Amino acid sequence: MDVQEAILGRRSIHEFKKGQVPSSDLKQIFERASWAPTHRMKQPWMMKVYQGGAIDSYASHVLNSYDRQGFFSGYDADRGGKMREGIKKFLINIPHHVLVYMERDVDQMKYEEDYAAVCAFIQNAQLLAWEQGIGMLWTTSPYLHDAQFAVDVGLNERDYKLVSVLQVGYPSRIPKPKQRAQIEESITFYE
Ligand SMILES: Cc1cc2nc3c(=O)[nH]c(=O)nc-3n(C[C@H](O)[C@H](O)[C@H](O)COP(=O)(O)O)c2cc1C
Repeated sequence: MDVQEAILGRRSIHEFKKGQVPSSDLKQIFERASWAPTHRMKQPWMMKVYQGGAIDSYASHVLNSYDRQGFFSGYDADRGGKMREGIKKFLINIPHHVLVYMERDVDQMKYEEDYAAVCAFIQNAQLLAWEQGIGMLWTTSPYLHDAQFAVDVGLNERDYKLVSVLQVGYPSRIPKPKQRAQIEESITFYE
């Protein structure tokens, strides 16, 4: 698969087959993704990978965060409980949850450089995974901004920016492409 094929063909994957991607394959993807551009060679990306039995407590941290944010507050206990169970089952069925985070540089400019580098790293990983038939969903959910969630996963918001959780596995369904706007709407040439 060439670069153009990977970029145009990759889709965000929402439904995964059962079964884990071997850790060695994930490691290789992230090793190669780390050739992303990174100013000052800071390589700011860090990851926690939840898989197998570890997803249960990870999913509880997510649900507790939803709770704190009032996600279930409009429902009676029975309905709220069923919703919780449904979300937990959904999360447990995703083979890998990769929390991508970085240290927060106190210098705003350096923070932005680091965040940009981590995003480049994530897209590299998505493309490398796609080439191997592995799907990813780049997610940014409110729990990434929940200080207690950060504590629950062993981080603290003051020192670390939680960038994304990548949901990873072999795709069971590949969505249709969402067409992009004409690039002319976003570009101006000056001569
Ligand atoms: C920073 C960022 C955050 C995203 N967060 C979510 C998310 O929380 N949930 C989700 O379903 N998709 C999320 N996406 C994926 C986009 O929805 C997806 O890329 C877009 O719909 C285009 O689909 P495609 O990637 O299949 O081309 C995110 C993408 C980016 C770049």
